[in-house]
Amino acid sequence: GLPQRVRIHEVGARDGLQNEKRTVPTAVKAEFIHRLAAAGLTTIEATSFVHPKWVPQLADAAELMPLLADLADLTEGAAGTDGTRLPVLVPNERGLDRALELGVREIAVFGSATESFARANLNRTVDESLAMFEPVVARARTAGATVRGYLSMCFGDPWEGPVPIRQVAAVARRLYEMGCTELSLGDTIGVATPGQVTALLDELTGAGAGAGAGAGAGIGPAAGTGARTGTDRPAAASGTIPVERLAVHFHDTYGQALSNTLAALQRGVTVVDASAGGLGGCPYAKSATGNLATEDLVWMLNGLGIATGVDLDRLSATSVWMAEQLGRPSPSRTVRALTHR
Ligand code: HMG
Ligand code: MG
Repeated sequence: GLPQRVRIHEVGARDGLQNEKRTVPTAVKAEFIHRLAAAGLTTIEATSFVHPKWVPQLADAAELMPLLADLADLTEGAAGTDGTRLPVLVPNERGLDRALELGVREIAVFGSATESFARANLNRTVDESLAMFEPVVARARTAGATVRGYLSMCFGDPWEGPVPIRQVAAVARRLYEMGCTELSLGDTIGVATPGQVTALLDELTGAGAGAGAGAGAGIGPAAGTGARTGTDRPAAASGTIPVERLAVHFHDTYGQALSNTLAALQRGVTVVDASAGGLGGCPYAKSATGNLATEDLVWMLNGLGIATGVDLDRLSATSVWMAEQLGRPSPSRTVRALTHR
């Protein structure tokens, strides 16, 4: 069956804007995020504390966060209060220091299932990038922060082509066992189709164990060996990840993002990443186009009777406003349909 409620993890201000050539003023970013919150989005990824030369568009992260202080309590130990959740990307301890200093209590590390993208995006091998994340995750958890672990190139990679499911699952388990509180499975270049989504989710949650030829048991690091088990962690069978900890992150390059989302919902996923107006791409993966548009997602969920708390008209108006700031129309079909009627 389908869930009754979905939490949308809005990435427009981060994944959407990170690739924009023209610098978006900090005040415009702050207004964008305030408008998204006013439209009912409760989790809004705000920015990235990465190297400013790697992602110049988000170099103003330290200036932006204080402008959002009215949305989320950015004071020490305030995690878990009922304001808007404003996670930020953090690749390393330098980024974590910068974020914690500003009171951030929701972070995301971002790993890759492939060596090519780990190199392009993080200047590291997969192993080196996981080693870089380990102290970040540990220190963030000690500071009371939530830690999302992104996993990119879960279905296809622009350099390596299709990515073997066991390779993806092995990195996913390492991120989870490191202490990530949520894992977001990324189709960075938007090539996945629904059957692949179902197969990966079944592999990770153990739903497919016994069904496939030797799939399931015994793959990846054994749970318990060096795994840090938080008290809030639900008990899981060896090597499996509870579906409540999984989110999906689709890009719409081949128009499959909604179909892929529906496949994930049918497997019990309740956290879906989307970008207002379909903004986005990835600066280190040339074939990546925009994310699943939040409006397209909300249109589908509304039709299915699945609650999101989002006011679709208000959200579309926000994307039209943002498109004017960027000087080109929103690629979201739903935004176009709602604003040209
Ligand atoms: P590096 O060049 O290997 O860095 O980059 P380093 O560790 O060698 O450090 C070099 C210098 O950078 C040092 O300064 C550091 O202090 C400084 P120096 O001592 O030479 O003066 N530095 C920093 N400064 C500010 N903030 C920092 C920071 N870190 C180091 N955090 C690094 C390694 C990870 C830093 C770099 O590769 C990087 O910033 N990468 C980020 C790339 C990125 O943001 N990509 C987009 C997000 S991923 C994505 O979009 C996919 C996703 O949407 C999911 C999907 O769709 O699949 C999430
Ligand atoms: Mg992305």
